[in-house]
Amino acid sequence: MELRIDRQALVPVVQQIVDALTGWIRQDAVQPGTRLPSIRQLARQNLLSQSSVNEACERLVAQGVLASRHGSSFFVAPPPSLGLASNDGTCPEHPPLARGGLADNSAWALKLGAGGLPERWRESDDLGYAIRQVTRTDMAGLFSYSTSLGLPALREQLSRRLKQLNIEAAQDLILSTHGATQALDLIVRTQLAPGSCVVVESPGYPKLFELLRLHGIDMLELPRTPRGPDVEALQTLLATHRPRALFVNSACHNPTGSSLSLGVAQRLLALAREHGMLVIEDDVYADFQGSTRTRLAALDADVIYVGSFSKTLSSSLRVGFVVAPAPIIARLSEVKEVTSLGVSRFSEAVLANLLANGAYRKLVQRQRQRLGGDMAAVLQVLEEADWEVFGKPTGGLFIWARPPLCDYAGVQRLAKRFGVQLSSPTAFSPSGADSQWLRINVAYACDPRALAFFRGAALDRPRVS
Ligand SMILES: Cc1ncc(COP(=O)(O)O)c(C=O)c1O
Repeated sequence: MELRIDRQALVPVVQQIVDALTGWIRQDAVQPGTRLPSIRQLARQNLLSQSSVNEACERLVAQGVLASRHGSSFFVAPPPSLGLASNDGTCPEHPPLARGGLADNSAWALKLGAGGLPERWRESDDLGYAIRQVTRTDMAGLFSYSTSLGLPALREQLSRRLKQLNIEAAQDLILSTHGATQALDLIVRTQLAPGSCVVVESPGYPKLFELLRLHGIDMLELPRTPRGPDVEALQTLLATHRPRALFVNSACHNPTGSSLSLGVAQRLLALAREHGMLVIEDDVYADFQGSTRTRLAALDADVIYVGSFSKTLSSSLRVGFVVAPAPIIARLSEVKEVTSLGVSRFSEAVLANLLANGAYRKLVQRQRQRLGGDMAAVLQVLEEADWEVFGKPTGGLFIWARPPLCDYAGVQRLAKRFGVQLSSPTAFSPSGADSQWLRINVAYACDPRALAFFRGAALDRPRVS
């Protein structure tokens, strides 16, 4: 059994073995009771030490994934009983909220459809330095709550950075949040009533759809074009509906990689003003964008603007922010205080440090350059292999593309053969409709497994006789 251990990865080897074995069991639906190869065999085949393999198996026993007999041989454990908490009638059952952006959970496969940078792309030196600085010099950063708007030193830096996008945001119009996710949640809680309807992009960001469903908000689907939301389709929607808000992911859109053009932005804003519709601009991929710089919030101070540092610096620090008019910021800040007591002051202080000393600016420059090179290479391969690409992205993480072999199940089988994990065929549609388009994460796409898959999809195409 090949476990595909990456010795350069930051993930410890034992954890990789755990992930690979779990993935094998889930992906291949391995029957309970199936016996694993012996520890010695697994270790020898994968050039691992027996103690690492043994430790991984013991962890899986502790997690209930494996069972052990006579202390040395391991079997796939029977599935746990569901143990629903509703026996006493107190905990109502809910349909699952999340559909997930990836097609399955195979731990060892290349996450071609992933939504973020791989860990091996992340850089820890400057981050480690900033963490040590805060630990040594900032006792409040280490131990205290933050303020309700967020750390002033961070908001000062954010205000400066936003100027580069022509967004004028005084510090007291900026609210820090626990990632963009909390920003979106606060906006939905405070600006939208259950039962109201909003316009969302299709394809678009799955977690936004799940959040809106959670709050009982109806969604109207607006097709995304390579230049932004489809303005004609919006006009048609507005002729028959009265949506309270429009959500737009302006730059390096998830999942299509496309960015908003100035013409589309101006027409969207004119329609929003005419119909009294709130505009929420989600710009979490902003720092991956090189040249094109159209932002709704730069054109209209009433736009609610959301940013984040998850995609570039760290998804673990959980720092995002909102820019909005003063009354909205006041309400968001109140609810943030009540529901979370604020963002981690430690994370805010670390980020403020990296913004102030220029390390963050240099980090995103390096990331843009590397992504730009990989983007060009992948687009070339896709073109040669006859894939259809949805507009050529000018930056960012994603390409939205359709293989010449237009049957998702066949493409999925092919991907599995090459050890590649695809994006889900339904997650990016607000209504969960099936799609043959795939989100391709450029940071994974130069891996030989992905390149072989792109080319393989062209070869597997049914021949026209
Ligand atoms: C469009 C979009 N908005 C928001 C988020 C959430 O970002 P954060 O990690 O800052 O909560 C993501 C993450 O994938 C995203 O793609």
